[in-house]
Amino acid sequence: MIGGTLNLSIATVAEQGFKTPYGVSPYMNVGIDDIAFQPGRLKLDLKTVFAPAVDQPPKKFTSGLGLSEIALPDTDEDIVTLGADAALELMNKNDLTPSDIGRIDVATESSFDRSKPASTYIAGCLEQRFDESFRNVDKGERKFACIAGTQAVNDALNWVAAGVRTGKALVIATDEAFYERGDPGEATQGAGAVAMLIDENPRLMSISRIHGYGSRDETDFLKPNQQYPSVDGKRSVQVYLARMREAITHFEEQSGPLHPAEYALAPFHTPFPKMVRKAAALGFRHSIRGTDIEATIADRIGDRPQQADFDADDAYVDAIQAWTEDLRETDEYTSWYNDVVAPTLSLSAHVGNWYTASVHLARVSGLWNALNEGRDLAGENVFVASYGSGSQAEVHQEVVQEQWKERVREFDVVEKLEARTNITDFETYRDLHRAHDETTETDMSPISEATGFVHDGTGSMGERTYRFIG
Ligand code: CAA
Repeated sequence: MIGGTLNLSIATVAEQGFKTPYGVSPYMNVGIDDIAFQPGRLKLDLKTVFAPAVDQPPKKFTSGLGLSEIALPDTDEDIVTLGADAALELMNKNDLTPSDIGRIDVATESSFDRSKPASTYIAGCLEQRFDESFRNVDKGERKFACIAGTQAVNDALNWVAAGVRTGKALVIATDEAFYERGDPGEATQGAGAVAMLIDENPRLMSISRIHGYGSRDETDFLKPNQQYPSVDGKRSVQVYLARMREAITHFEEQSGPLHPAEYALAPFHTPFPKMVRKAAALGFRHSIRGTDIEATIADRIGDRPQQADFDADDAYVDAIQAWTEDLRETDEYTSWYNDVVAPTLSLSAHVGNWYTASVHLARVSGLWNALNEGRDLAGENVFVASYGSGSQAEVHQEVVQEQWKERVREFDVVEKLEARTNITDFETYRDLHRAHDETTETDMSPISEATGFVHDGTGSMGERTYRFIG
């Protein structure tokens, strides 16, 4: 049924004890009904191809960043083909046609057009595959660095929950994360899309109406009218952590204190897995404050240092950092990290950063690993932490739905990763990078066999053109 009365999970609200500032239920039964994702068709091995060519030890990328390989787009792929491939799969596996869809939101920070949104291109691609059009569908493009994917999901949720919708909402987070050659971020590149179907009574994740935000004007990472980002890498890591902390505090002001045992999974925005390892340790430290866990581990690693006990800030920072390192070695932390965080990172280690799609791929990764480990997540809470440079973090809670296993089984994670073609030498990677450079003309042919949608030229008004290969 479209529109109509929303099914409010009042029992869940009462159990969670959430405060609702405006008297609105924090749990409307609206969320993510299903997901499909699409990596770029190419794969670059950081250990064997990239590391030797840039004269760095492979361990810098594997242990240092947590990455082993990255997904890259072939010469005939871009944010539109990746997004359209993911969206077509999502529609086909749910037997949807354009008349079932009321809204298409695309989130990207790799847009190639300052006016025409990528959603119009993607809708145009999809219309090649259906007899119907998206004529009455509201389309747009969301921008706020990597957090835009989550903002687009929230916009769609609100549209569904407001009862004004004319169909289901399709949210597509799609990016090609290229850095300038030689930039420290080069190893963290990646390309792919995650398409999400937003609906009431979702079969996968119900999403809470409580959002914690941390937001400040920052210049840690930006693209002022340029393809490649200007990045202050070290600073961007600190800004990520600061915004996450503010968002969590804001969330707790509404929900009450977090406790690590409340969450089965915690997908974070993952520019590279090691970033999330840093964030996870700080998140765990924050959420065990004053709990049974902190009391238990104090016997082994001592009491948490208190700022009031130090004359100088530096001395306090050193002490709390050392305590955090000890905390990371405890069984309590390791066991929590292995259950709640590690499962969300394994996909990222094989595909790199997908910017707007990254946190949504982390959710896919967590659910998929949980399914393979035989965990039963139905009714369990998931804590989702998004971040966008410039800068803003958002955190919220989701509840895994009864039918999650059937949905996750169809993610086809292994098939998608294994279908990629290996870039076997650095020169080919270098040429591919140049072929995607918007300021350079090259006529490099695709490396891999084309599938799905391909970018096949430019029209008379400078528009990109696409066709479906199959
Ligand atoms: N063996 C094991 N570990 C090694 C090693 C080796 N041989 N060599 C280095 N390492 C470790 C380092 O100790 C370091 O670990 P710690 O951070 O725990 O100390 C890690 O590998 C990385 O080494 P460097 O700090 O020397 O790496 P770098 O300076 O060359 O690049 C980076 C790191 C600055 C994060 C870079 O990848 C970058 O600029 N990335 C893009 C920006 C980014 O992703 N920022 C993240 C937050 S912003 C965000 O999230 C938005 C977004 O999506 C971009």
